[in-house]
Amino acid sequence: EPEVIRDKSQMRAWSRSRRCNGITLALVPTMGFLHEGHLSLIRTAKALADLTVVSIYVNPGQFAPSEDLSTYPSDLAGDLRKLTSIGVDAVFCPTELYHSASDTDFTRHRGTIYGESEAVSSLEDGGSGHQTWIRVETLEKGLCGTSRPVFFRGVATVVAKLFNIVEPDVALFGKKDYQQWRVICQMVRDLDFDIKIIGVDIVREADGLAMSSRNVRLLPEQREMALSINKSLSRAKVAARQKSCHELKALIMQAISESGGKIDYVEIVDQLNLRPVEEISCPVVLCVAAWFGNVRLIDNIEL
Ligand code: PAJ
Repeated sequence: EPEVIRDKSQMRAWSRSRRCNGITLALVPTMGFLHEGHLSLIRTAKALADLTVVSIYVNPGQFAPSEDLSTYPSDLAGDLRKLTSIGVDAVFCPTELYHSASDTDFTRHRGTIYGESEAVSSLEDGGSGHQTWIRVETLEKGLCGTSRPVFFRGVATVVAKLFNIVEPDVALFGKKDYQQWRVICQMVRDLDFDIKIIGVDIVREADGLAMSSRNVRLLPEQREMALSINKSLSRAKVAARQKSCHELKALIMQAISESGGKIDYVEIVDQLNLRPVEEISCPVVLCVAAWFGNVRLIDNIEL
């Protein structure tokens, strides 16, 4: 049974008492509703450190008011069962009350992470007392940053908080959220966090769809349509030597649009700095975001 810790000072005390004995800790930050993608990060973590901590926290700081914070899926009991069977050492879940799909009361998302003031409707109004944000200025722009302008400052800030609370030796992030992983690597470098960041390969469903907590919100026909994302990415990878970047992007856009998806972006970018490239002369990653109904999906493939 993992230790379930809800309070940040208890979490820090748990970590410190172990680390001062020379024990190494891995942290896997998540927003819960765990699937095989998360579990793959946890398995990798267990191989890299003596003890593994998983955090579960639906971070309001990374959702814009128009986004799906209130409908983000959650199942804490199911998550704890999965974490018990895979064998983690501690679960940090600071949120006091878990929301249900019908619950639009944002005040309930107030955990012990940002502050304790009453009636916090959003982090923006300062009601939580929180004022400090981390911005990874260049990497946060482009790709997902264009349609989600506050997303990466919310991610970077909550991850920095989790790093300060848990004080892990190593932290793991999925390459499914490629830009997020690169943003965290940059933050750790720029702010001298003494934490090794590991990027873990994308885990897919049997039919190729990248696993995501949001997949459960796809209707069966939308789920079928969404296969156009990974199918066209794989086709583009095979065709990469024969076609220009422009042709590769056009191929992907056409396949996704024809399936009924609405493109947010299709980009071919340098794997390190995420700058768009015109031709493939360095390791690149092909990144896609598209809407199927009201569900936004992302995926990518490294070339
Ligand atoms: P969440 O979407 O729950 O994802 C938690 C971690 O699991 C992230 O590092 C993500 O990249 C990884 N992950 C999700 N699906 C994956 C898949 N199919 N294959 C491999 N890895 C996958 O990402 C977040 O939460 C949040 O932004 C967080 C980092 C916790 C900050 O709030």
